[in-house]
Amino acid sequence: MTEIQRQIRALAAQKGALILSHFYQTMDIQAVADVVGDSFELARRARQAAQPIIVLCGVRFMAESAKLLNPDKTVLLPAPDAGCPMADMVAPEDVDALREKHPGAAVMCYVNSSAAVKAKSDVCCTSSSAVRIARALPQRDILFLPDQNLGAYVAAQVPEKNLILFDGYCPIHHAVRPADVLAARAAHPDARVVVHPECRPDVVALADFVGSTAELLAHVENSPPGGIFVVGTETGVVERLRQTAPDKTVYLLKAGFVCPNMKKTRLSDLLRALETGAEAVEVDATVAAGAQRALERMVAL
Ligand code: 13P
Ligand code: SF4
Repeated sequence: MTEIQRQIRALAAQKGALILSHFYQTMDIQAVADVVGDSFELARRARQAAQPIIVLCGVRFMAESAKLLNPDKTVLLPAPDAGCPMADMVAPEDVDALREKHPGAAVMCYVNSSAAVKAKSDVCCTSSSAVRIARALPQRDILFLPDQNLGAYVAAQVPEKNLILFDGYCPIHHAVRPADVLAARAAHPDARVVVHPECRPDVVALADFVGSTAELLAHVENSPPGGIFVVGTETGVVERLRQTAPDKTVYLLKAGFVCPNMKKTRLSDLLRALETGAEAVEVDATVAAGAQRALERMVAL
């Protein structure tokens, strides 16, 4: 550990702070976290946290979800300008318009969304829980937002439901094309290609395995030694696998597969957050109860 990492650990212990990190954070941040997880696991651990302070090393919607699921705690976002462009693609008014057009349909919203959008939704989901939740909903018609790609993946896995998709996307995953998969296969003919469901359907169709960040990690880590993998998600997952699965050879599907917002958290930001208590995340009281209900339903389902 470096000196600043030791300072962070000492201060977290002194103040009673639980440090949560997403897998897309840089490895120096992951190394000082109490928990490193996908967005579902981070939400679950935030909800259970007994510590007075939760520090969320990730993007804003993750910190908002932590606050909604455990409102009595102080939730700090060390990189306060870390947003998610996909979350910004849908507004609460879009949900109103869709409900009017499709009365009776359930509204299922990916956690990559604002609290105001969650408040207008019936249930939230993450990439690892979306298929399970779509199956469990009583309605056949499901309005899925904002990610058209995750929505298409769920529709294919749950054919008994009718998914109506919003047209949002993650600019990082959506940029991958089938030609990138074909090029990676040509360069690494013995590799298995594993991708995140935020990739386009024509990319998902070419993959050997599809899963959330936690599922991709587990798939590679638990495969027989000596395996070769091309990983189609943010580079943080590849960097982590090089540590947790050193017996495997792992390549990033495409150069520049980086989420700039996830890379905004630096150790100095994390230390400052613990020292000063900035920035504490608050959720607008007018939407908090509704958003909390949709998130709690996700955890329950
Ligand atoms: P996970 O649900 O796999 O953690 O993904 C979150 C995310 O933002 C992917 O881009
Ligand atoms: Fe948002 Fe995409 Fe970054 Fe995930 S990888 S936080 S969906 S921009």
